[in-house]
Amino acid sequence: METNTRGSWGSRVGFILAATGSAVGLGNIWRYPYITGQNGGAAFVLVYVGCVLLIGLPVLIAEISLGRRTNLNPVGAFKAMSTSKAWPWVGYLGVITGVGILSFYLVVAGWTLGYIVRTAFHTTGTFGEFVQDPAIEIGYFTAFLLLTTLVVLGGVEKGIERWSKFLMPMLFLLLIALIGYSLTLEGAAAGIEFYLKPDFGKITGSTILAAMGQAFFSLSLGMGTMITYGSYLSKTESIPFSALAVAVTDTLIAFLAGLMIFPALFSVGLEPTQGPALVFNVLPKVFDTMPGGTIVGLLFFLLLAIAALTSTVSLLEVPVAFLVDQKKWSRQKAVWVLTAIVFVAGLPSALSQGTVQLFSSMSVLGQTDWLSLMNFIFSDLSLPIGGFFLSIFVAWVWGAHHASEEALTGAGSSARRLMVAWRPLIRFISPVIILIVLLNKMFGLFG
Ligand code: TRP
Repeated sequence: METNTRGSWGSRVGFILAATGSAVGLGNIWRYPYITGQNGGAAFVLVYVGCVLLIGLPVLIAEISLGRRTNLNPVGAFKAMSTSKAWPWVGYLGVITGVGILSFYLVVAGWTLGYIVRTAFHTTGTFGEFVQDPAIEIGYFTAFLLLTTLVVLGGVEKGIERWSKFLMPMLFLLLIALIGYSLTLEGAAAGIEFYLKPDFGKITGSTILAAMGQAFFSLSLGMGTMITYGSYLSKTESIPFSALAVAVTDTLIAFLAGLMIFPALFSVGLEPTQGPALVFNVLPKVFDTMPGGTIVGLLFFLLLAIAALTSTVSLLEVPVAFLVDQKKWSRQKAVWVLTAIVFVAGLPSALSQGTVQLFSSMSVLGQTDWLSLMNFIFSDLSLPIGGFFLSIFVAWVWGAHHASEEALTGAGSSARRLMVAWRPLIRFISPVIILIVLLNKMFGLFG
């Protein structure tokens, strides 16, 4: 690990691998299917793709460009580009959001570890029983936190990049195989209809907020992950091309996850609206009936755990980079102090699935347990708020023209055409849509 520099990606494809590793995770395979299920299926999928194109991709390009230009973490990046004392608060919000997302994400990531073990030993008992055992919940959550800690201790190149290399092709192939099996199940057609035949009557303000939150979450946007990862990117790489590659891969993997889950869900007769438990209820049932299901199930949960790990690593890297750059802490100290903070912050989520009454049955902002509440506050509110201010900052403070020069450094001529469309998107379209959707939700929640 470099001692006197901040570190950078070790190979040409290093950034794309690591950024895709950050983007592809539980957001694609756990969150996307259950949010789609709760929001009516196919119509939501269309709104989601619209959000990726009109908001996600432009904000992704903006974040990477700001990161590469400043070579800094989110707080430092805002400080470097403006003398105002207000803008760095967008960076601080990102640092806090990183901890907030980790606090519940690691609990779900822990479930994937638990399901590796449960699949291997053919454990009986439902998901509901599994998540109610406090020792198990805290144990797996802590185990996953420590795995993340170890990788981030290794630093940018050795730690993060190396893990991202083999995963994606493997996960992709396994998804295709599982889709093939899922489609053969009895009753699969109803699932396909739910997932692919839109009923536009189901689109409401909440649907759009959910789709937008999901786009930010799935692409790792709105809290400075991509600023931080962009800060390790070389000037010879094309930012528009890299961003497009990340967005397409991420969206494709989510889409395929839906194609795997919904036919199976309808075939086993479960409800699409059941929330966070969805994939953990459906998939074991699929593996049970499938020839070679134990091996396939093991491989699946293992790959999901690794996909989650490359995401938790990117979440932890943001506050770590902040403490290392701005506070001059050693990487080691920053990582361990943050590990302790995330541990404490995550306990309520770990105990929120039936163990502790206070966290398990509530009614706050329309959410019924602590884990879902954290998920809602940090993913659906905090990320779009961060993304809104980031768009304004890049388009109007730094300047869309300056930013697109940065994005085009190292890029070919076809990227130029993409950036012509980018400028109005980042100046007007994406911030305006974000603002309308957020205000609509605020008035709905509090008004
Ligand atoms: N995108 C990841 C997933 O889909 C989660 C994630 C990693 C994330 N880094 C992020 C979400 C930053 C929001 C912001 O699983």
